[in-house]
Amino acid sequence: MKRLRVAIDGPAGAGKSTIARRVAEALGLLYVDTGAMYRGITWVALQKGIDPVDAGALASLARDVHMELRPEKDGVRVWIDGKDITPFLRDPRVSRAVPVVSGVPAVRGRMMELQKELARRGGVVMDGRDIGTAIMPDADVKVFLTASLEERAKRRVKELRGYGHRIDPDQVGRDLAERDRADAAREFSPLVKAPDARLIDTTGRDVESVVQEVLTLCRTRL
Ligand code: C5P
Repeated sequence: MKRLRVAIDGPAGAGKSTIARRVAEALGLLYVDTGAMYRGITWVALQKGIDPVDAGALASLARDVHMELRPEKDGVRVWIDGKDITPFLRDPRVSRAVPVVSGVPAVRGRMMELQKELARRGGVVMDGRDIGTAIMPDADVKVFLTASLEERAKRRVKELRGYGHRIDPDQVGRDLAERDRADAAREFSPLVKAPDARLIDTTGRDVESVVQEVLTLCRTRL
C-alpha cells in the first residue's frame, strides 16, 4: 500500500490533534504532533531560565537537545534528554512563550529538519502550522482545519480543565487570538492555508463527521 502523507494545519484549538490522531489510527499511519515538538523545546528553555527572546541561547539549545517522539496508546509522548516531558506541554506558561520560541529561525530550522526526516519515510499524518506549505508541500492530502474563535476557546477551556489547570475562560480566548496572530505574522514559515488544502470549518461539527470527511479524502489518494 502507498505510504500516504497527510498534512493537517490550522489555528490553535481547531481540533487538529484530535482529528489527526484518529485519522492516523484508522489508516495505520504514524501521527506526528509538531506543536508538541515546539512546546517541548519551549518547556526546556523555561526550565533552564532561558529568556524566550534570547535567540542565541535558544539556537544552542535547539542544536544540542535530543528530542524523541514516542507514539503510545494515549497519544504521542515527547522525550527530551531522556525525560518524558509530556505532562508539561499544555502548561499555560508554555502556551504563551511557544509562538516566540517557534519564531526563532534556528529553532524552526532544527525542528523542521526533524519533521522533514519523519515526512520522508511517509506513512504519516502530521499536524501543525506549516506542514502543507513547508514540511510536506507535496503531501497526498492537505487539510486546513479551522473553527470560530469562540468555539476554539470553549474547547481549550474544557481541555485545560481536564488537565487540572485553573483558568480564566476570557484569558484563554485572548491567548488563543494572540497566538494565532503571532503564528500568522511570523516571517519564516507562518500559519497560512496552502492553496491546494481542503478548508474544513469544524464549528458546530462533531469529531466523527470531520474524521470521516478527512478519511474519505485520504481514501481517494490511496
Ligand atoms: O499545535 P499547538 O497549539 O500545540 O502548537 C503550539 C505552537 O507551536 C503554535 O502556536 C506555534 O507557535 C508553534 N508551531 C509552529 N509550527 C508548527 C506547529 C506548532 O510554529 N508546525
